[in-house]
Order: sequence, then C-alpha cells, then structure tokens
Amino acid sequence: MSTAKNLAQQLRCPNGEQAIAVGSGMNQANGLLNQRCIERLQLSDTDAVLEIGPGNGAFAAQICAAANNIHYTGVDWSAEMVTAAEQLNHDLIRNGYAQFLRADAAELPYAKNSFTKLLAVHVIYFWQPLARYLAELQRVLTPRALCCFAFGDRSFMQQLPFTAYDFTLYDAQHVQHLLHQHGFTVEQHWQHEETGLSNTGEMVQKTLHILICRNRKDAL
Ligand SMILES: C[S@@+](CC[C@H](N)C(=O)[O-])C[C@H]1O[C@@H](n2cnc3c(N)ncnc32)[C@H](O)[C@@H]1O
Repeated sequence: MSTAKNLAQQLRCPNGEQAIAVGSGMNQANGLLNQRCIERLQLSDTDAVLEIGPGNGAFAAQICAAANNIHYTGVDWSAEMVTAAEQLNHDLIRNGYAQFLRADAAELPYAKNSFTKLLAVHVIYFWQPLARYLAELQRVLTPRALCCFAFGDRSFMQQLPFTAYDFTLYDAQHVQHLLHQHGFTVEQHWQHEETGLSNTGEMVQKTLHILICRNRKDAL
C-alpha cells in the first residue's frame, strides 16, 4: 500500500497501531484552524455542543471552558479515537460535561433537537452522500442551531498526495450551495490562510474555509 493511500485511510478513520500518532499529528496540523472555529462558534452558557470527527478530542476541554455548563458530545467512527478522547477528557466525562461515542454521523443515536451548536472540522470530505449527513445533523440540531464547518479548499487539498484516495474535495461556493440546498443558512464565510504543517509532515501554504451557518429548520 502506498504511503499516501495509507495516510488517507488513517485520516478517514484512524485505526490500528498508527492511530494514536495520527491523532497527535492531526492536532498539530489542524490546531490553529480548530482554535479559529471554536472562537467563532459563539459558545454560550448551557450550550449542547456536538462535534463530528473530533479525533482524540483534543479541543473538548477548551469548548467546555468557553462558558458555563456547556455539555459536549464528540462522535467519531474510529474506536481508537474514541478511546483516546475518553482518556484525554477523563475528568470532563466523570463530571458529566462531556461524552464520546463511536458512530457514523449519518446515524446518530440522539433525539431530534438535541444540540444547539455543531462543529465539524476537516470531515466533510468523508460524508457521502453529503445530503444524507446534513439531513441527519439537521434532525438532531435545534431550530436555528449554529454550526461551524471547516475544510480545505479544493485547490489546496489537491496538492496533498493523500487526497487522491477517497477524499471528496470542495470549494467554498459548492459547500455553501449544498448547505443552502439542504436546510442551512450560511451567515459567515472566512477564508483562513495559514503556513503550517500538513499531515504529511511538510510545511505547506493552506487555504481553508470556515463556514458559520444556522439550521433553517424553523423556517421550513
Ligand atoms: C481528518 S480527521 C480530523 C480530526 C479533527 N476534527 C481535526 O480537525 O483535527 C477526521 C476525523 O473524523 C472522523 N470521521 C470521518 N468521517 C466520519 C463520520 N462519517 N462519522 C464520524 N466520524 C467521522 C475520523 O475518524 C477522524 O477522526
């Protein structure tokens, strides 16, 4: 198996002996972007936050600390990442502020209207068909819930060798169109430029998008 294909599979779902290192690598490569997203999620007291694809849950503590009585739920389909996230966030879980679950975001075991905020960083590439995932997210979000989707621009991502393997790439306009079509109103778009480490370990110039949107459910 080529290194690029192996890395692609690990980023899609970290597994086996490499999983822990892949999780740490993602924290390094994606740390700044996650900070920017968390700042823009307008976290407030008693928010129920759903994060899809948190990996090892490195940012859960920061989310919980952003306001009073936030409850955080991280859903990742990697068993290794859920275990790592539970270890890292042991105290938050014990005190009832956080939970992690292994599941595919296309089938969430939560009631409708369960979450007031959503965070999804570098995960939409793996959601096929995207419409099915957006419908499921919309179901579990409250009307007008605020969502943050962040992803690399197609032109930047295409330069990374691993994205040739089962990554669906987008530009901002396409994602905004799909979000609008499937029940979300995009309120803000930031283009985030950053020179930093890629998951390949190389320094790259990144063009990333942060979209802040509202669940339009109440308007349907
Ligand atoms: C590229 S990593 C990004 C991790 C983290 N959000 C970050 O910014 O570093 C993608 C993560 O999303 C998870 N993931 C991908 N598709 C998923 C799905 N459909 N449901 C749940 N988790 C998913 C993977 O297991 C992996 O942990």
